[in-house]
Amino acid sequence: SPQSAGPKTTYSLVVVSNRLPVDFEVAEDGTENWRTSPGGLVTALEPLMRASDGAWVGWPGVADRSFAPFVNDGISIVPVRLSGAELEDYYEGFSNDTIWPLYHDVIAPPSFHREWWEAYVRVNRRFAEEAAAAASTGATVWVHDYQLQLVPRMLREARPDLVIGFFNHIPFPSYGIYAQLPWRKQILDGLLGADLIGFQRAADAGNFSSAVRRLYGYPTRGVAIDVPGHHGVHRRVIARHFPISIDARSYEELARRPDVQERARQIRQDLGNPNTILLGVDRLDYTKGIAHRIKAFGELLEDGSVSVEDVTLVQVASPSRERVGPYIALRDEIELAVGRLNGDYSTISHSAISYHHHGYPREEMVALYLAADVMLVTALRDGMNLVAKEYVAVRFDRDGVLVLSEFAGAADELKQAVLINPHDIDGLKAAILRAIAMPRQERLRRMRALRRKVFDNDVAAWSTAFLRTLTEGAAVRPGIPDALAA
Ligand code: G6P
Repeated sequence: SPQSAGPKTTYSLVVVSNRLPVDFEVAEDGTENWRTSPGGLVTALEPLMRASDGAWVGWPGVADRSFAPFVNDGISIVPVRLSGAELEDYYEGFSNDTIWPLYHDVIAPPSFHREWWEAYVRVNRRFAEEAAAAASTGATVWVHDYQLQLVPRMLREARPDLVIGFFNHIPFPSYGIYAQLPWRKQILDGLLGADLIGFQRAADAGNFSSAVRRLYGYPTRGVAIDVPGHHGVHRRVIARHFPISIDARSYEELARRPDVQERARQIRQDLGNPNTILLGVDRLDYTKGIAHRIKAFGELLEDGSVSVEDVTLVQVASPSRERVGPYIALRDEIELAVGRLNGDYSTISHSAISYHHHGYPREEMVALYLAADVMLVTALRDGMNLVAKEYVAVRFDRDGVLVLSEFAGAADELKQAVLINPHDIDGLKAAILRAIAMPRQERLRRMRALRRKVFDNDVAAWSTAFLRTLTEGAAVRPGIPDALAA
């Protein structure tokens, strides 16, 4: 792998996230290597990190292993060690079985355990210490996502010289739901250690600000929150939305490659040349509405609106959080539904659903997007959903129909998609039929508008906007005396 030793020890930009851009992997035969890790966050930040002189602090994806800092593919990597027990309590437990379901509007019931919380505090402190050690004087530290909400406050206490940003990649729930959290005040306090707190949607930022008003009574004016600090000096914290995006050009470039286009043709042929390919691409997660999508498609087959010769659903469900209870149950539920449907409707030559419990390299994903006539994004709740944006970026032919849940953050921007409520199965069925039958003129018109959105706000625009707001705010930060803030 393209790694080398000898990185610098402090950096003017430090990114902190639970997962590093690379995962350490041990194969069955014992061979070890670093692989690009899953998830939208890595895809989003990679270009920025490569372009700047920064370090990335995070977990290497395996427990009980220590690694010295190294440089991978032009990015300085600072691995944080987690024990097996911490992995269970901090990552699988508090992050993914408490905060994740709670912040996604309790689609699955969140579990509240005090030992999980204690591990979360402990591990957040470790991340904060590593970040503080990697940051040069006056450096900018950008902390990411729900796994690390206490890090901003911990960093500020250790290093008041730092400029601290936080970005929440997932939704922030309304107060009625947030209020369930036994540690609701501590989490807010942790986040308020940042100078700038970014969210995907305006509604998320609004939910956060109202939680701060309800639980702390701090005055908010628009996107500004006045947080009382030491010696009667207030800090102004900004909480607003910065919808994340993708490196759209690099997706289009891949899509234009002849070998990738050939692969797309091959995929269609291998599927038995159906008239319409429907595609779903998700981490296997209960927030994604995969079961709703399968139900709608199954009913369309059942009532004869579509046939397997004409229409195939390709579903890529990449393995995710496989030791967390609700994810284990979800896999059984989805695979039972897929098996039933295929048993009832597939023929020897045509499958109803081509189901893949796999992650694929980006080239293969782009070929799938190119092959797909209709992209189905039916999330019940989703911070943004970058799959929707990837599909749009790839379609340089301006063809293809995006069916998009209004509960995905992406729906705030991608209004030219066919917007759906995934809970309304009849509505979803009608939208799928409409997408299948949509006249070419309308497809092109919609896709042109969608592409403008995605290319105008690509990931570079996103990170530039966030970092500019962060550093400009910091320039006027010294604080507002109590008397003036009132
Ligand atoms: C979402 C989260 C990320 C996370 C990714 C993959 O995109 O916002 O923080 O890294 O899912 O999940 P995992 O638990 O495998 O890191």
